[in-house]
Amino acid sequence: MRQLLDRAAGLDQPGGNDRLKRIVHRVITDLCRTIKEFDVTPNDFWSAVSYLTRLGQANEGGLLVPGLGIETFLDVIMDEKERRAGLAGGTPRTIEGPLYVAGAPLSQYEARLDQDPEPGEVLFIEGQVRDTAGQPIAGAVVDVWHANMKGGYSFFDPSQSAYNLRRRIETDAEGRYRLRTILPAGYGCPPDGPTQQLLTALGRHGNRPAHIHFFVEAPGYRKLTTQINIADDPYLYDDFAFATRDGLIPELVRHTDPEEIKARGLSEPFATIRFDFALNREAGHLPAAAVVREHAKAA
Ligand code: BEZ
Ligand code: FE
Repeated sequence: MRQLLDRAAGLDQPGGNDRLKRIVHRVITDLCRTIKEFDVTPNDFWSAVSYLTRLGQANEGGLLVPGLGIETFLDVIMDEKERRAGLAGGTPRTIEGPLYVAGAPLSQYEARLDQDPEPGEVLFIEGQVRDTAGQPIAGAVVDVWHANMKGGYSFFDPSQSAYNLRRRIETDAEGRYRLRTILPAGYGCPPDGPTQQLLTALGRHGNRPAHIHFFVEAPGYRKLTTQINIADDPYLYDDFAFATRDGLIPELVRHTDPEEIKARGLSEPFATIRFDFALNREAGHLPAAAVVREHAKAA
């Protein structure tokens, strides 16, 4: 048995990548242990293989990974490395998720994200990007994306136009940004997809609380990947993707005063959020905070 797994991982071969060999060896060893301990039958096993095939065909790998807590685990490991390197005081990171699209329109200081005509409660967000000493960072890029009122993301949801609810905003000389959009709804896994299938078998739901994603980048600083939550969501502390973190739940202020509504050029109540970002300085000996993964790009 031992010899079989050593050979399967190429340990008896001179060529190849040593680290990969050790990782593959560990993974197949643990898999074989699991098969033995749980008396996994060949039928069980091949149904798992076809599950993984379906997961890939449905392009849901990026959904299952956070659903099983692994994307948050990777964040916790990076947090630990940064803490040990003495970095502190930055805005908490949380998962990117699988729904980012690169290349959103870029503007200076401000942007409006909702470009499709759909009803929704208007939301204004404003804040400042600073370093951990509180100094504003001019020219930082705030890349923001979120779902619509049905929990759908443009590009993945063909009913929305390209880059709806996605923008990049460059901060002004005082590090400030502001945006207008609509309040998103929470995301739910496709009900007939393989991720939801496994979650259901685990007795779990596949829902996320309403949230807004950000990448915040500036030269000389560690890239921040994070999200803020909409505070009154019933799934706030029950996110299937485990992304809710302290420090990422800003107060949502609802404005109903007719004078305020008029002053904003609106006819209905609206909401505001103030959210400031604090970026850690780059530290050469740490792994890059920017995660390299495949991203769609709208045409
Ligand atoms: C999301 O950001 O909406 C998301 C994150 C993880 C899995 C699925 C969706
Ligand atoms: Fe999301």
